[in-house]
Amino acid sequence: MIIEPRMRGFICLTAHPDGCEQSVKNQIEYIKSKGAIQGAKNVLVIGASTGFGLASRISSAFGSNASTLGVFFEKPPSEGKTASPGWYNSAAFEKEAHKAGLYAKSINGDAFSDAVKKQTLDLIKADLGQVDLIIYSLASPVRLDPKTEVLHRSVLKPIGDKFTNKTVDFHSGKVSEITIEPAAGEDIENTVKVMGGEDWAMWIEALKAANLLAPGATTVAYSYIGPSLTEAVYRKGTIGRAKDHLEATAFTITDSLTSIGGKAYVSVNKALVTQASSAIPVIPLYISLLYKIMKAEGIHEGCIEQIQRLYADRLFTGKEIPTDEKGRIRIDDWEMRPDVQEKIAKLWQEATTENLAELGDLEGYRSDFHNLFGFGLKGVDYKADTNEMVGIESI
Ligand code: NAI
Ligand code: NA
Repeated sequence: MIIEPRMRGFICLTAHPDGCEQSVKNQIEYIKSKGAIQGAKNVLVIGASTGFGLASRISSAFGSNASTLGVFFEKPPSEGKTASPGWYNSAAFEKEAHKAGLYAKSINGDAFSDAVKKQTLDLIKADLGQVDLIIYSLASPVRLDPKTEVLHRSVLKPIGDKFTNKTVDFHSGKVSEITIEPAAGEDIENTVKVMGGEDWAMWIEALKAANLLAPGATTVAYSYIGPSLTEAVYRKGTIGRAKDHLEATAFTITDSLTSIGGKAYVSVNKALVTQASSAIPVIPLYISLLYKIMKAEGIHEGCIEQIQRLYADRLFTGKEIPTDEKGRIRIDDWEMRPDVQEKIAKLWQEATTENLAELGDLEGYRSDFHNLFGFGLKGVDYKADTNEMVGIESI
């Protein structure tokens, strides 16, 4: 069928298999162009199908010839209906990995569940023996607690007071003011349940108990900080509490891995257009200004550039891993540069519907957003009939 983008609010209901494939191939080419990384050899990526997780899987496979096992939660295609982008990304990834002679298998299901954890452990036991790197890159609005069977929902709200600021509808370019009511009831606890570190610790505990962690195994989860402009809705809001919890969990995991010499890290990454970040109010306006400044300075990065730098310049240098005063790896260093933030703060005051296309990189935002779903990629014939029924080789 001929597949076109169908937007609804912050999501796109369709995805293009050839476009997703092209996007994966572009990321693979980027990693190959940067040369080999002396990294991990058996890698489990939880949240492996889009965004930072996919970039991590690609960096391990094509930067370090790693065997990769990817866990994700994606919608397969059905006759006349496209799959979700992460499905097509993973299909393309496996195809390319297998062509290159690399082990790559995937598990599609709820990573928060005991069943998917067990399935993953069994597969590691059977195929890999042990893993030496575990990337934890889930972004989800809900989590069913496997022990209590309570379904927790995360929210993106400020804490204490309501928060009023500018935002943009990146589809229309309309800049407006929004007010977000503060967290109430169990909003904070629920958000920590979903996006905090509890599930990460459960994964590592399960792997360790099954003796599936190689000596010196490393695990990394991703976090975000951002500037004071967005802190009411991000770092000092409900999601920030979850990130505080995730960051604290790195220390408890490291303690639990003393016997095998393992370590847990949080890497603080740059703000980027992904399905997860597009849904957060205020952030898209910030990102459109950030992109403009970082591109002008020649320091813009996407997920793949970020993770390539995380691996090559932080995790796998053969030297001690550099961290900040809170033990976090920082690859948001260019985003947080004072000169970059000063420029954004100034543009923030000036931004209106009329001038944002010029002040900010609204075009770059939109194009990245379309690319997430496999649209707008160079070299793809969007007028051609294509097969939506693409399978993932290992599934
Ligand atoms: P994303 O939406 O692109 O990826 C989320 C991944 O989680 C996908 O692979 C999806 O299939 C998987 N997933 C979601 N629910 C699942 C479930 N129940 N079971 C199994 N898999 C599930 O998100 P993105 O942006 O790559 O986020 C990953 C991490 O990076 C998050 O912790 C996020 O907070 C963090 N981060 C994101 C930044 C951004 O600007 N996008 C900046 C810094 C950190
Ligand atoms: Na991800």
